[in-house]
Amino acid sequence: MTSIGSDGFGNLFASQRRNARQLLSRVLPGLARRVATGSEGVRRAIKKAEIRLAGFEKTVSVKPIADIPFPKIDLAADGDPVAAIMVAPEFTAATAFFADNPVTSRSLETPTAHALLYCLIRNLCPDHVFEIGTYRAGTTEAICRALCANKAGTAHTVDPFTGDYAEVVLKSWPLDLLRRVKLYTMNSMTFYMEMRRQKIRPDLVFVDGEHDYEFALFDIGAAARLIGPGGFLFIDNIDQAGPFLAARDFLAANPGWREVGSSLRDYTADKAFDPQRNMISQTDFIALQAPRTHPVDRRPRDFGVVRQSGNRVNGLRLHLQSPSRSGKLTVQVVFRGFGATRLWETAADATIDLKPGPVSQSADAAFTPPQQLADGCLYYTVESWLIWHGDEPLQLLRLPEPY
Ligand SMILES: C[S@@+](CC[C@H](N)C(=O)[O-])C[C@H]1O[C@@H](n2cnc3c(N)ncnc32)[C@H](O)[C@@H]1O
Repeated sequence: MTSIGSDGFGNLFASQRRNARQLLSRVLPGLARRVATGSEGVRRAIKKAEIRLAGFEKTVSVKPIADIPFPKIDLAADGDPVAAIMVAPEFTAATAFFADNPVTSRSLETPTAHALLYCLIRNLCPDHVFEIGTYRAGTTEAICRALCANKAGTAHTVDPFTGDYAEVVLKSWPLDLLRRVKLYTMNSMTFYMEMRRQKIRPDLVFVDGEHDYEFALFDIGAAARLIGPGGFLFIDNIDQAGPFLAARDFLAANPGWREVGSSLRDYTADKAFDPQRNMISQTDFIALQAPRTHPVDRRPRDFGVVRQSGNRVNGLRLHLQSPSRSGKLTVQVVFRGFGATRLWETAADATIDLKPGPVSQSADAAFTPPQQLADGCLYYTVESWLIWHGDEPLQLLRLPEPY
């Protein structure tokens, strides 16, 4: 076990200290500044952090990086990847690793929950994982162990309240683990906006922040807007009505998403709080999987706001699966220019008749006339809406592209 107490970085060799400083400036900018102020500054910073942690353990023990077994499963298959992982003997070994790990004292999750996140991420090999609710960076560790073993990917973890504590924990991690994490001390709304600004799209999101219905619904919906095709959403505390009802309502409103398991379907309808609800044994998780395409039906569906490079939009380019029956697609675009003192806004629409054809097709929804706004704005944005009048939902293979 690595156990780093108040000596902290003072005990690291010079090259490790240099590496740590570089890494920290990326991962934890606040702490990196303090490390850069010299060993006396570091000692003071760590002392201060320890005082803030009164009530928690005084030193942070971290198990060294190890080769943790995991079952290889076929994520492209339509079955239940969670069940496939959990019946495998490697999963028992992974669970034993997390059970015999000081991280259990810092996490609200079971070793089974840690092992499940770990094994899924080993198979998924994501570029980005989001974690809403860092707390003491317990589940963050399981996520980062998997990314570290994959030798790729970043965990973006967010918590508006426990950043100081999480910083101290992360600082105690082996550098290869630390390399895999970015900590954001902000609320999830600011975080999602920041991820959207940076165009970072996760393949797995673990929602474990504020559990009231409205917060959970926001965290799930905002994650779903960014998540990649076929990506996973794990929602914790579904024994509580907030996350449970939020997951149900989200699934009902979003065709193409599916539950991996059956907790939402087979539940006792007259219980708001129900510890027996969960079908993923030894966890309080519900798992949802995103569609591999972007389905559109009669309810107007938007694809978020994207920046446009100039002050003109000619139309929207679509890549889609050919429908099995003819139908009509209505496209609407709201084009905005943000000036220093005022906003310009215009909307345009177009209709395309789509017919059955080859497996996939491209279609341009052209606006006549093209939409043009005042020159010289600070920036321009395009918000695209689609409505499909057809029997089955229309499946977009890519996000619509303004041109
Ligand atoms: C249940 S704990 C997370 C536990 C953690 N995943 C673990 O290792 O077991 C929930 C965390 O969500 C954080 N939280 C509350 N509101 C939040 C928000 N709006 N955005 C992000 N995190 C939030 C809380 O500060 C708390 O630390």
